[in-house]
Amino acid sequence: MLILEKCIGKGAVRECYVHPTNKNKCVKVLLKKKDCPVFEREFKNYSFIKEFLNDYIIDYDKDLVETNKGFGMVCELLRDDDGTVSKMIFEHEINDEIKKGLDLFVYQLLEHNLFFYDFNLNNFVVQIKDGKKKLKYIDVKSFERNKSWCFLKLENIFSLLARIVMIRRLKRLYKELGFNFSRSCV
Ligand SMILES: Nc1ncnc2c1ncn2[C@@H]1O[C@H](COP(=O)(O)OP(=O)(O)OP(=O)(O)O)[C@@H](O)[C@H]1O
Ligand SMILES: [Mg+2]
Repeated sequence: MLILEKCIGKGAVRECYVHPTNKNKCVKVLLKKKDCPVFEREFKNYSFIKEFLNDYIIDYDKDLVETNKGFGMVCELLRDDDGTVSKMIFEHEINDEIKKGLDLFVYQLLEHNLFFYDFNLNNFVVQIKDGKKKLKYIDVKSFERNKSWCFLKLENIFSLLARIVMIRRLKRLYKELGFNFSRSCV
């Protein structure tokens, strides 16, 4: 059983710890046991999207591990060139390099009809690798799953609607980061 001690971050659903025996991996554990299907869904999402988004997402291990905090999902832990854990996007000064990374990520989503709904800033990490700032989307559980209240979930049936909802959220993300979302830039 893995003993998790060093917490890196906490979201609404999970906590993320440094893997105790591999410093380049992290273990995500659930805050509430009932959310267990999240892991399976996220791994499925990852397997499907990785060919399109390989440069922008982290690697996931297929098998869950047993930890002192319940079952955990193991994934890549992003570290910078100096070995420190990479920082969230909002801890960086947003420059053209990061903006370009975001534009290319969004281009891939729109080009391949990959619909995500959760673009909160905590899901974006900037890794400094070989001196370059690389944008990473570290939470893919919202793929094709819009959690906000919607009576008929029509976006699961009509891809045009899914696109509209996603673009609305992307606009919000761009605004939070201080720039305009324009289809010509992606
Ligand atoms: N691979 C990683 N590298 C660095 N930090 C990470 C990584 N994965 C997660 N984190 C940190 O842990 C936090 C929680 O992880 P994650 O987004 O998976 O949790 P969540 O509860 O599923 O998120 P949400 O609140 O979006 O539903 C992140 O916001 C981030 O600070
Ligand atoms: Mg998250």
